[in-house]
Amino acid sequence: MDLSSQSISSQLSNLNGCDYISCSDLKSEQISALLELATQLKKGNRRIDLGNRVLGLLFSKASTRTRVSFQVAIARLGGQTIDLSLQATQVGRGEPVRDTARVLSRYCDVLAIRTYSNDEILNYAKWASIPIINALTDLEHPCQALADFLTIKEVFGSFDGLKLSYIGDGNNVANSLMICGAILGVDVHIASPKGFEPLSLIIKQAKALAGSASRIEISNDPLEVVEGAHVVYTDVWASMGQEKEQLQRKDSFQGFTVDKSLMAKSHKDSIVLHCLPAHRGEEISEEVFESNASKIFDQAENRLHVQQALLAALLGGL
Ligand code: CP
Ligand code: NVA
Repeated sequence: MDLSSQSISSQLSNLNGCDYISCSDLKSEQISALLELATQLKKGNRRIDLGNRVLGLLFSKASTRTRVSFQVAIARLGGQTIDLSLQATQVGRGEPVRDTARVLSRYCDVLAIRTYSNDEILNYAKWASIPIINALTDLEHPCQALADFLTIKEVFGSFDGLKLSYIGDGNNVANSLMICGAILGVDVHIASPKGFEPLSLIIKQAKALAGSASRIEISNDPLEVVEGAHVVYTDVWASMGQEKEQLQRKDSFQGFTVDKSLMAKSHKDSIVLHCLPAHRGEEISEEVFESNASKIFDQAENRLHVQQALLAALLGGL
């Protein structure tokens, strides 16, 4: 589906001034319009100048892709970034969110926040008068999901009849894939070891969003889940903040490595995606990673294009 610039603008005009905390903040048509705009920006068919708008980055966890792609995205839109680390601000010394949010709203035009608790980011959204973007919490990674589905669209042309199988920890990345996939009508099947499945609240939400248009399935059997999959997705077994559980998780996740024998069960045209950073030899084998590297790095590149589209929409630049 190719959308004209006018139709993209009309689909996205409602997002002006909004937050983006969860994939569920977007309707299917809005995601399609964002992906189309991202494609136009990527191909150089569209230029957007927002003037000198300032993006504040408030990150409590490490980041390479999200941080740099947001910095480049706002620069390409004519704006600039202020990189706010916890240590360099009073946030690290306990200044309350309700004060920080109101102060930063007086200086910045938009904030991208990476933190642990999803409630914290919702609290920022409550007190800030500027758009708040979720740059990853323990619950969701909604910017990642936009880049993932752009990559899938680039490969398969459309989402019709696609099965995405996620093998591994039922974490933030899995949650956003499930919700975004449900909104877009993609079947999302998750295989996690017992006790590491996504939260039942998120599964319920994704199933409700999917309705009868697609299937959201959870299993403990990676072989069953990968059967016929067009997209096989994995992420680390221990996310940021779970470092102490890393060794124990290695045991629990035995049999959940995306390797050649697992991939043999997938669709013949399947691709493998990974949000990165990857732990080769754990959630993915070296061989499978390297044979899918071109798509995995397209996926990383697409963070830049979808976030440029997102910033343009939230800042009313269309
Ligand atoms: N995929 C992702 O969010 O990477 P970073 O942690 O490097 O930002
Ligand atoms: N699930 C991972 C994603 C990193 C981009 C984490 O939260 O650490």
